[in-house]
Amino acid sequence: MNYRHSFHAGNFADLVKHALVLRLLRARQAKGPVTVFDTHAGAGLYDLTGDGARSKEAEAGVLRLMAADGLPETIAALAAEVRAVNGGASETRLYPGSPLLVARALRKGDAYRGFELNPPVADLLVQALADHPYADGRPGDGYVEALAGVKSGGGSGPLVLIDPPFERPDDYVRAAETAMAVVRADPKATVAVWTPLKDMETFDGFLRRLSGEILVAETRLRPLTNPMKMNGCAMVVLNPPAGADQAAQEICDWVAGTLGDAGARAEVWRL
Ligand SMILES: C[S@@+](CC[C@H](N)C(=O)[O-])C[C@H]1O[C@@H](n2cnc3c(N)ncnc32)[C@H](O)[C@@H]1O
Repeated sequence: MNYRHSFHAGNFADLVKHALVLRLLRARQAKGPVTVFDTHAGAGLYDLTGDGARSKEAEAGVLRLMAADGLPETIAALAAEVRAVNGGASETRLYPGSPLLVARALRKGDAYRGFELNPPVADLLVQALADHPYADGRPGDGYVEALAGVKSGGGSGPLVLIDPPFERPDDYVRAAETAMAVVRADPKATVAVWTPLKDMETFDGFLRRLSGEILVAETRLRPLTNPMKMNGCAMVVLNPPAGADQAAQEICDWVAGTLGDAGARAEVWRL
């Protein structure tokens, strides 16, 4: 368990993921109270100066976001959250992970259940959520715990976030199998899975394990020619709510267009 999300916090992939999560949450809240299950919660809040200097990934991601003008609405909503977490300061020292972003948006009747396998990170998660009464973070295997929560009827039509580190070879299979098991257990569930884009074969193999109504939102920073690099990322959404396609297009277009190389592009499509 070597993965440390703090090295990557606030990178382009976090911006795509978190802008879309905020929009999916808002769409689901419009229908009534929602429970959010987060299989891989992480620490909840990241100090971008924690390991000395800011990471190059944050510099190329959230710091460019915070310096940009004329943001489209979906991206502006994330920038507003980052600014609020930093107390409105002009310097961006802190970056919120999915637990804190969701927790801050919860209303009475909503709930957040986040799981983290790495005990010291789970301690940070509990700390990050301490002021949020509707949010609960705990140690555990999120694939197992979130599915158990959905099966036990923990909130009809939940929003389930699956965001593995993909450091283990079985993460693609477990992510796909968990996503399918969730929608079998509750056909009204919306499931959002984040994956890196390295090479097309790995991504296709993942998509082949899925079926149903599925939105695929790809942000390619560069052509997928070097499979050793994260050349982009994808959000794959099972049972996407109305408006998700347009929101995903806006988010992926902005990130690819602003943070990508000359050959960058966004591809938003239905499986
Ligand atoms: C990409 S980070 C999560 C980031 C978080 N979702 C966010 O958006 O802020 C992945 C996290 O999953 C944790 N992890 C790995 N395998 C896990 C599992 N089976 N269940 C729960 N957490 C796991 C890692 O320790 C790491 O902190």
